[in-house]
Amino acid sequence: MNDLFTPMKLGQLDLKNRIWMAPLTRSRATVDRVPTPMMTQHYVQRASAGLIIAEATNVALRSNAWDCSPGIFTSEQIEAWRSLVTAVHLAGGTIALQLWHGGRVASDSRDQPDPPLSPSGVNDNIDAITVWGTDESGVFRKKAACPSRAMTLAEVEETIAAFGRAAKAAYEVGFDGVQLHAANGYLPHQFLSPYLNKRTDAYGGSPQGRAQFALQAMRAMIAEFPAGRVGMRISPFTTFNGALDPDPVPTYRYLVDELAKEGMGWLELADTNFWAGQFDRDQMLSLTRPVFDGPIIANGGIDPETAQQLIANGSIDAVSFGRLWMANPDLPARIVAGGPFHKAITKRFYGGGPDGYNDYPTLAQEGLVS
Ligand SMILES: Cc1cc2nc3c(=O)[nH]c(=O)nc-3n(C[C@H](O)[C@H](O)[C@H](O)COP(=O)(O)O)c2cc1C
Repeated sequence: MNDLFTPMKLGQLDLKNRIWMAPLTRSRATVDRVPTPMMTQHYVQRASAGLIIAEATNVALRSNAWDCSPGIFTSEQIEAWRSLVTAVHLAGGTIALQLWHGGRVASDSRDQPDPPLSPSGVNDNIDAITVWGTDESGVFRKKAACPSRAMTLAEVEETIAAFGRAAKAAYEVGFDGVQLHAANGYLPHQFLSPYLNKRTDAYGGSPQGRAQFALQAMRAMIAEFPAGRVGMRISPFTTFNGALDPDPVPTYRYLVDELAKEGMGWLELADTNFWAGQFDRDQMLSLTRPVFDGPIIANGGIDPETAQQLIANGSIDAVSFGRLWMANPDLPARIVAGGPFHKAITKRFYGGGPDGYNDYPTLAQEGLVS
């Protein structure tokens, strides 16, 4: 019987435990989206995770969801990632990168004046979008999203290619894996949603058509990175950021089935509706388990005890924790010790310095172990 501490395989990688770190945007990169030493320290502190999935990282200039979120499309960004990954490896960690395009999730403090890109320029539920940025007085806060416009076919194809380039750069700097962020209402999810995707070309019009963007982006990534170490994050039932779908099953079944045939390494199920008190884990598992026999990772509102049970009964292969990792840099040791577990400080989630980011103590720093 497996538990949170049973090692697991991911492609050729040996992971030391099943306590993964979920991707967490903290907006501590520079305004030019260059990863900072503060970020290196953050991930080094968390090197005891089975796999760190580093935060959502922009694959192109036109992906500019949140200010100070990192990118991996300029040489300066790429070199900063190289030193971050090297430091995490030296600390004994294993680290993947989440590749991101915000699509219509973008505010007015954007890198360029052209409107944000989305599958069809649907803007009637723009108030549903959550986006953070720096205001005129330099304060980092939630902002209004600005209206997007429909992507041309050439822009769709160029954006797919950007995911491939980002995966190539991630491989070259030594990341152990890459993950497509197809959850939480960002661009791949926008394509999957019949509410936001009204396209009549090959990228819309049917479940198969709506799945094409995520599928082609994954194929572009797998062309650059060993498939067994490429994963995808989905949240088919979430209403977050307004990527609505009254019946996601046919689209996601087709998508995951196709990706299983490509040898995709893992699938992470983000239970984003749990924030509103509705757990979708069981329906996400019934949707994906029949078509995906690789590792399935559950995320969202899961405590260590429930995680142990889900792994022990074979429902899932690993758990990714978000807020528990934010506030407990030595999370596996704390699980062994039975706690105590600190709570993440909500107002320090996004932006600013190392406080509320790198100053959560370990058990040893608290004098709770010798
Ligand atoms: C501050 C913050 C930043 C987040 N950033 C990301 C992100 O970059 N990519 C992503 O897929 N999910 C992101 N999420 C969602 C988390 O990965 C995770 O799904 C959520 O925290 C629920 O898991 P938990 O209950 O273990 O915290 C973020 C959540 C929070 C609170």
